[in-house]
Amino acid sequence: MEHDQTRKRTAISEAPAPVVPITLRGISDPVGLALFKITYGLYIVTSRLGERLNGQCCNTLFQITENPRRIAIGINKKNLTYEYITKSGVFATTVLGTDGHPLVGRFGYRSGREIDKFAGLSYLLAEHTGCPVVLPGIAFIECRVRPEMTVDAGTHSLFVADVLGAGILHDGEPLTYAYYRATKSLVPQTYKG
Ligand SMILES: Cc1cc2nc3c(=O)[nH]c(=O)nc-3n(C[C@H](O)[C@H](O)[C@H](O)COP(=O)(O)O)c2cc1C
Repeated sequence: MEHDQTRKRTAISEAPAPVVPITLRGISDPVGLALFKITYGLYIVTSRLGERLNGQCCNTLFQITENPRRIAIGINKKNLTYEYITKSGVFATTVLGTDGHPLVGRFGYRSGREIDKFAGLSYLLAEHTGCPVVLPGIAFIECRVRPEMTVDAGTHSLFVADVLGAGILHDGEPLTYAYYRATKSLVPQTYKG
């Protein structure tokens, strides 16, 4: 009998710790906190309308199929970049490296309706679309939107697009949203709109 009880206690102590909902620890927005645990990279998505160039910071970008190669981006309908992508049907994206904070600041907080985000900036024009690729970045991808695959997601549209061309700009680690959040206070904010 004694022996049995010892075995029972051991079994209980080896059981996995119960999951404690975060709400019980006094954190009020568990859904928001959980969503922040989704991993993202950071990108500058650009487009053009004739000679006019614009771009924005974007975290909602991912490869969706390998054959054919397609990526998807989530873009707010109020953004000037949304207007340019919708009208031109093309965009390019620069994959930011861990030195990309100044470009997030330049492209992510103000609209091209107020400022020329390309003034004084180094950039290339991508071969197939003529969309700007901002420097410094670690890679670029240029794309044509498949309009029949665009999804209206309310405030944003999800554009699915064929990859027309891409290349490496220089070696480096991609900038993740988590790394950006953890380090942005360490980088001088002089660049920010
Ligand atoms: C870190 C970061 C990530 C962002 N991700 C997105 C995104 O995925 N989609 C989007 O529509 N806007 C995103 N934004 C907001 C746009 O970059 C911002 O509204 C920009 O000013 C729009 O510029 P535009 O009007 O010149 O196109 C992000 C901003 C930051 C700072």
